[in-house]
Amino acid sequence: MLRGSKVGLRARHEEDIPILRTELYDDVVNGSRAEGGPWRPITPGSKDPRLVPDDTDQRHVSFSVVELNGGTLVGMATLWGIDHHNRFAHIGLGLLPAARGRGYGTDVVAVLCHYGFIVRGLQRLQIETLSDNTAMLRSAERNGFVREGVLRSSAWVLGEFLDEVVLGLLAHEWKPDATA
Ligand SMILES: CC(C)(COP(=O)(O)OP(=O)(O)OC[C@H]1O[C@@H](n2cnc3c(N)ncnc32)[C@H](O)[C@@H]1OP(=O)(O)O)[C@@H](O)C(=O)NCCC(=O)NCCS
Repeated sequence: MLRGSKVGLRARHEEDIPILRTELYDDVVNGSRAEGGPWRPITPGSKDPRLVPDDTDQRHVSFSVVELNGGTLVGMATLWGIDHHNRFAHIGLGLLPAARGRGYGTDVVAVLCHYGFIVRGLQRLQIETLSDNTAMLRSAERNGFVREGVLRSSAWVLGEFLDEVVLGLLAHEWKPDATA
């Protein structure tokens, strides 16, 4: 398991799946805002890759996020679009509603940076988020990510076009203890 100061990132366990499906993916607003595509229901028991990771996919790593104190599941995190030539990847995360606003998101980003830069030897990490997602923007910026651009009206979200912000962090800019 990868450890931050508050949360750990471990493999997806069978018992995580119904909780993540119910609390994250059944939520139409959260799904529509977080996924860059139309919300669709996930059939219980299906092998949807958002819930059941394909461990043979070298471009994508999925984690479940747990509290270090007690091991309770609090969300999911991914390193996706891993590009081994350009040594670049995207990061993504989603916390269960009850776990938000407690500093876990900032800690998850810190752990994903450690995984991306140290474990995987990447040179650049990138985050895309809606421009009104203050909690995601702050979680990224607290870890040193900088806003590199705004994709105007790039996301169709529940009846309106919203802007997305692209944030990037380079390995040499990363300060491992920035959020400690
Ligand atoms: C986005 C998300 C991962 C952030 O994690 P979090 O644990 O809630 O965030 P933190 O508690 O670490 O807070 C980070 C910062 O955002 C601020 N913040 C937290 N919730 C906020 C809210 N609802 N509105 C405004 N600011 C907020 C905190 O005060 C903190 O700011 P600071 O660094 O200036 O002190 C989490 O809220 C979440 O899962 N949201 C739903 C899914 C989602 O949006 N995923 C990202 C898709 S790109």
